Amino acid sequence: MKSDSKLDVCVVGLGYIGLPTAAIIARAGCKVLGVDVTQSVVDTINRGEIHIEEVDLDGLVHGVVARGLLAADTKVAAADVFVIAVPTPFDKNHAPDISYVLAAARSVAPVLKVGDIVILESTSPVGTTEEIRDLLAQLRPDLKMPGMTRETPDVTVAYCPERVLPGRILEELTNNDRSIGGITPRCARKALAFYKIFVRGTCIATDARSAEMTKLVENAYRDVNIAFANELSIVSDKMGLDVWEVIRLANRHPRVNILSPGPGVGGHCIAVDPWFIVHGAPEDTPLIRTARGVNDGKIRHTIAKAEALISAHPTARVACLGLAFKANIDDFRESPARLVAATLARRFGARIQVVEPYADGLPREFDGTGATQIDLDTALEECEILIALVDHDQFRVVPLAERAAKLVYDTRGIWPDQPKPGVAGEGESGLRLAS
Ligand SMILES: NC(=O)c1ccc[n+]([C@@H]2O[C@H](COP(=O)([O-])OP(=O)(O)OC[C@H]3O[C@@H](n4cnc5c(N)ncnc54)[C@H](O)[C@@H]3O)[C@@H](O)[C@H]2O)c1
Repeated sequence: MKSDSKLDVCVVGLGYIGLPTAAIIARAGCKVLGVDVTQSVVDTINRGEIHIEEVDLDGLVHGVVARGLLAADTKVAAADVFVIAVPTPFDKNHAPDISYVLAAARSVAPVLKVGDIVILESTSPVGTTEEIRDLLAQLRPDLKMPGMTRETPDVTVAYCPERVLPGRILEELTNNDRSIGGITPRCARKALAFYKIFVRGTCIATDARSAEMTKLVENAYRDVNIAFANELSIVSDKMGLDVWEVIRLANRHPRVNILSPGPGVGGHCIAVDPWFIVHGAPEDTPLIRTARGVNDGKIRHTIAKAEALISAHPTARVACLGLAFKANIDDFRESPARLVAATLARRFGARIQVVEPYADGLPREFDGTGATQIDLDTALEECEILIALVDHDQFRVVPLAERAAKLVYDTRGIWPDQPKPGVAGEGESGLRLAS
């Protein structure tokens, strides 16, 4: 390998993961080519600008582009290390779609040379890294691939998943521990040496399949535990209990840590990745599959409760607070808040207003509904019903004085001081009807 900072790195896929990764590797001194199939993404980055919202990313990208360490293109070029960070969605049957990953590997194959490292970072079903290796072997029979030869392979192939939190991506990319799974132990060691260039967390070598499963397990763990909290919230509703109070008290147990319920589970990871495990072992995953069902069911439950509240107050104007899938980010993918707000907009039309400080305009599904986007101040002045769908900091800090007289459905438990109902709806978790 060349000396660390002399490496040429090609990052394929410049989204929420690929762009920050490319920028951080460039900051460490490597020359980075970022590749994306979307021309506008490439143009934006080459101007030193960014197309996604992420804390401190704009300054970092501006700096590394200005210093000539990061450039973007739509075409892959020769490099020493290839990092693939393209989407891995699922299809309508929840089967993982690795076509983007295979397309990215196909684009790398022609420029691959002896000594190169290919690392997959996309969340992937178990066995995908081996599929990439097999594809590269097929496309480049001139190169010896790891695990297929007794001789020293020409190329390193490894898997290294991301576990970053949107909003803290730059910090977590640097400081989180990383599992680095090689097709062979040698591959893991070589990939690990690369990550050491820019990762301060502990890098742990393992095999590719274990690393793939580790990523899926992390998100399935979160999903199952959130499902427990969401199930409790529905049960508490039925029993006339305040779920937040129950959880707060239960968590005083030294070995209990119940997560927070919400309007469902969204995002590109937790709502998606558990299906990759289910798909790989459909007979053996009743718990993971059920958790998915519980969390999806919570979205329907939230819609039904919101509809009941709005229908009971036919002249009230309604503010849906938040569309993002979690707090303080501009990511609306698979977002339960977005689904709830859009469903309400379709049913109640212009009565529905949406407050989302992280969006310039409403997503397409709101077209023709009559719903509009307003700012928080206007919502607090003009709307009688507040439906808190996302726990953005801006919403959390709204003082009681500005919402005490509102009808509030707090799906995130952000306003524990909201007066409890003294009328119909008493005891319903999160449904806090003030006078
Ligand atoms: N966003 C997260 O917080 C997060 C966290 C952990 C893991 N992941 C995983 O990382 C992977 C990437 O996710 P993301 O959020 O960055 O996705 P994204 O949609 O934000 O970005 C992916 C980018 O890849 C580009 N692309 C698609 N096919 C391409 C190809 N063949 N060649 C070049 N570019 C291509 C797209 O145009 C897009 O810009 C996924 O597998 C995801 O599950 C994401």
